[in-house]
Amino acid sequence: MPVANLIDGRAVAEQIHAGTSQRIAFLKQRGVQPGLAFVRVGDDPASQVYVGMKERMSARLAIASVTHLLPEATSERDLLKLIAQLNADSKIHGILVQAPLPRHLDQANLHTAVLPQKDVDGFHPVNVGKLMLGDTTGFVPCTPAGVQELLIRSEVKIEGAQVVVLGRGNIVGKPMAAILIQKARHANATVTLCHSHTRDIAAHCRRADILIAALGVAEFVKADMVKPGAVVIDVGVNRVKDANAKGGSRLVGDVDFARVQPVAGRITPNPGGVGPMTIAMLMQNTVRAAELAVGK
Ligand code: GUN
Repeated sequence: MPVANLIDGRAVAEQIHAGTSQRIAFLKQRGVQPGLAFVRVGDDPASQVYVGMKERMSARLAIASVTHLLPEATSERDLLKLIAQLNADSKIHGILVQAPLPRHLDQANLHTAVLPQKDVDGFHPVNVGKLMLGDTTGFVPCTPAGVQELLIRSEVKIEGAQVVVLGRGNIVGKPMAAILIQKARHANATVTLCHSHTRDIAAHCRRADILIAALGVAEFVKADMVKPGAVVIDVGVNRVKDANAKGGSRLVGDVDFARVQPVAGRITPNPGGVGPMTIAMLMQNTVRAAELAVGK
């Protein structure tokens, strides 16, 4: 099949940035510049790349970003102190503590320390609870929100669809399911959440009208796990060894793209699918946090 079935996340993200830019210009007229703080601990190479991309997009959109780079051995106490400072800083509207964190730090504790109204990641229990309850006043995690937006803008019918989500992580899988089960427009799906203890995952996958892979296993989804014509969304980013690649490794998704693409009705490329959407939703959440702070 030709590549015409690709869902172009970069193009959709640009549409969203255009709207975000307008809102930023409107805030500027009122003398407000959205401010976003990144907190990165240690030297996780993937986190360096992700935060770098978020910083560059902030700069492009004229969001004022500051990055706090802390050594691997930073104590939880020091991190909590930094988060408290950022919470109290009126120029900072959004705070993002990049995951994964070093093992000695309690991720949940740190995410809970961020004020819910500055939690542009949507990881604070108040925002998680609001999402579950269908209360749209909270912040929704960027990657699953981006997947929903990508489906909407690609005119994929979500309501009534059989959706299979692979992976039950707090960043993607769980909130993804929570978004799509809501009794709401662009939701109302029947969601199956599969994980490492699911029996016969392939059989679940084959029933999916929309298959969302976020389990973090390189090229896990094979062609025979996909119903012909299904929509396949690949959230995964996995580094695999490849002696022929620059640096001896390359990035692949959770979907065996070359084999699945001819079977799928629509499919996200990787890169160029979900990744740009995550960043677009983060920028949008930050602008919303700024708007709320100034009473819009
Ligand atoms: N690590 C991987 N994805 C994310 C994300 O969306 N937010 C944060 N804070 N860390 C991540």
